[in-house]
Amino acid sequence: MELDDLMIAAAAALGFISLCKNLLAFARWLHAALVRKPKNLRDYGLWAVVTGPTDGIGKALAFELASKGLNLVLVGRNPDKLEATSSELRERYGAAVEVKTVTADFAKLSGEEIAAAMAGATEGLDVGLLVNNAGVAYPYPRYFHEVDRELMESVLRVNLNAVVWVTKGVIDGMLKKKRGAILNIGSGSSVYVSSYPLQTLYASTKAFMAMFSRSIGLEYKEQGIDVQCQVPLFIATKMTMLRRRPLLVPSAEMFSRASVRWIGYELQCNPYWLHAVQGFVIRSLDAITIRYGSRYLKWMRKDGLEHDRLL
Ligand SMILES: NC(=O)c1ccc[n+]([C@@H]2O[C@H](COP(=O)([O-])OP(=O)(O)OC[C@H]3O[C@@H](n4cnc5c(N)ncnc54)[C@H](OP(=O)(O)O)[C@@H]3O)[C@@H](O)[C@H]2O)c1
Repeated sequence: MELDDLMIAAAAALGFISLCKNLLAFARWLHAALVRKPKNLRDYGLWAVVTGPTDGIGKALAFELASKGLNLVLVGRNPDKLEATSSELRERYGAAVEVKTVTADFAKLSGEEIAAAMAGATEGLDVGLLVNNAGVAYPYPRYFHEVDRELMESVLRVNLNAVVWVTKGVIDGMLKKKRGAILNIGSGSSVYVSSYPLQTLYASTKAFMAMFSRSIGLEYKEQGIDVQCQVPLFIATKMTMLRRRPLLVPSAEMFSRASVRWIGYELQCNPYWLHAVQGFVIRSLDAITIRYGSRYLKWMRKDGLEHDRLL
């Protein structure tokens, strides 16, 4: 065989292997999204702790978990919003679901204080699921030097510090009973593109969360604790200020329905099917996504600055 023929054969073999790998991944994804039975979340324990349950994804997840018969510990910074969410839950589910609230501003408390508050609030409860959902992004895109101190502290403390310390406060109880699940709401911004300018701190904290989740996921698998990081793309919430758009931006409720079906399985996943498709495309077109994405983010920054000036 000539060298040219050998190279063509090798390239064809590599292409075939890559095609098979992608087809296999797609088949596994289809199975997980459509066929696989969701876990019975009550098998982990009767209570779920949800951070950031007063708006957006966290609120939708709280309702979704209540619909599965889980009691809830809601952890938020605003007592009025916490009370309003609890009342809505009680109205909808009555005595079937117990709700406790914990007021904790993650941007202000130290790590030790957060862990102590969580351990205190969950003492004596059969906590099976922890959802680390609370999160903060810049209100609009900006360069790193434009992020003021308060916003910087807030992003780092809520997205990074609180995830670690809330987990610390809850995991001992799960370890004792050798049963539990942790769901961390990460972001596609840290996994589908190779960089995310103008939301640098946000995307970096989410990259931390993804690595933290995958790593403790392996540490505790054999102790009966299933850890998962979900990495959604855009969802219509107060954080993104986007409206729901068919085929592009789901509502928090649509995302949450998909989200709970995946809890307890992969270390990292994108549960909403359209996000998974979007993620595949974005990853395949990384350079183009970053080029045009950056232009869009710069336009959003200008718009945000203009809006600030008018205030
Ligand atoms: N929306 C998206 O497109 C998207 C995409 C990927 C990932 N995510 C992630 O999903 C999670 C939820 O985002 P979302 O879009 O639902 O945001 P959201 O609507 O702004 O809700 C965020 C939640 O976090 C709480 N929170 C904010 N700062 C806090 C603090 N200092 N202490 C305690 N709680 C605090 C908020 O409380 P208040 O009600 O008091 O404001 C609210 O309950 C975040 O981790 C975000 O990074 C969102």
